[in-house]
Amino acid sequence: MPVITNIDDLKRIYERRVPRMFYDYAESGSWTEQTFRDNSADFHDIRLRQKVAVDMSGRSTASQMIGQDVAMPVALAPVGLTGMQHADGEMKAAKAALDFGVPFTLSTMSINSIEDVAEHTCAPFWFQLYTMKDEDYVRRLIQRAKDANCSALVITLDLQILGQRHKDLKNGLSAPPKLTAKTIANLMTKWAWGIEMLGAKRREFGNIVGHVQGISDASSLGAWTAEQFDPSLDWKKIEKLMEQWGGKVILKGILDPEDAKMAAKLGADAIVVSNHGGRQLDGALSSIRMLPRIMDAVAGDVEVHLDSGIRSGQDVLKALALGAKGTYIGRAFVYGLGAMGQKGVTTALEVIQKELDTTMALCGERNVADLGPHNLLVPQDFCGRWQE
Ligand SMILES: Cc1cc2nc3c(=O)[nH]c(=O)nc-3n(C[C@H](O)[C@H](O)[C@H](O)COP(=O)(O)O)c2cc1C
Repeated sequence: MPVITNIDDLKRIYERRVPRMFYDYAESGSWTEQTFRDNSADFHDIRLRQKVAVDMSGRSTASQMIGQDVAMPVALAPVGLTGMQHADGEMKAAKAALDFGVPFTLSTMSINSIEDVAEHTCAPFWFQLYTMKDEDYVRRLIQRAKDANCSALVITLDLQILGQRHKDLKNGLSAPPKLTAKTIANLMTKWAWGIEMLGAKRREFGNIVGHVQGISDASSLGAWTAEQFDPSLDWKKIEKLMEQWGGKVILKGILDPEDAKMAAKLGADAIVVSNHGGRQLDGALSSIRMLPRIMDAVAGDVEVHLDSGIRSGQDVLKALALGAKGTYIGRAFVYGLGAMGQKGVTTALEVIQKELDTTMALCGERNVADLGPHNLLVPQDFCGRWQE
């Protein structure tokens, strides 16, 4: 068994183990992938202030996200098709998150259904909602999440239409994979994945198949999105959905200070500063670069979370020090899941927690709540000087 010391180690194993179609699906940004690359690269532009002669004993990464206790402020982000990265992927990732003490967010576009995950874990999880034209389906979906005792609804606002990811089109991405000469040739080299997948509870979109009728191709993410996602989603509709849910709401995909203000005004419990991991508007600024401006706009009015580009505990620390109360990892946990199933997700979380804890100590802090701008060296002009 290889020694895993960082998230990149998991990514290397993941790439070898999982069919190319699903590796490419995760490891892509839209169009030129500029925003996808910037998301991670911009974290590296921020440096840390070393502090010495500080008592480092009794450290803790424990915190809260939307009033919920967390072992560290790092949730698992909603990731579509997680159950194609590893058999029963959503159930396994949810269990790893539960055991670790961090929130798991189930995507609308998951393979395991809401009910599968609820049966498999005893703790409430968060459900991520994509809004569809079919209002009755959305109503039923929200009700299913309520019945499953989900403790927050995460409404994703940055994907009413799909940003084009070239590789998915070229690979003919679908769940389950369509058997063409190209996919068969690749699947033959991924036998361990295939054997496990034969025993999986599901291989189709679990929240959709059997719950909606009249879709031309329920296996194709692209076709489903184009046909079913609601392009008319606006603040009024978001408000209605929040009322329908009646519980805690996180609005995900905010990258603009005015949008952040609007989300706060609507009474969201948290917002996620996010560009969907660089998968939607290519050319948008990275989440970490936008965070200071969004904090200036809404600090104190709404809890601010951040995702996109986090690959280490140092990245988490930087987001927290700039004011985020919580963060999410998408690809970082997918690498672990694809590499080693549930154990791999746990390993990803352990790696990040260790990095966060050690870095916090070397910055002279004992508690994540005490992190702040004083721990960072942020380049002048980090947010950029752009013409208004
Ligand atoms: C393969 C993949 C699938 C995703 N599917 C969804 C989804 O179904 N719903 C959603 O709100 N966000 C989705 N996202 C975005 C993530 O929730 C999150 O914003 C993003 O992964 C954060 O960036 P990171 O991967 O660099 O951590 C997806 C991301 C990836 C990589």
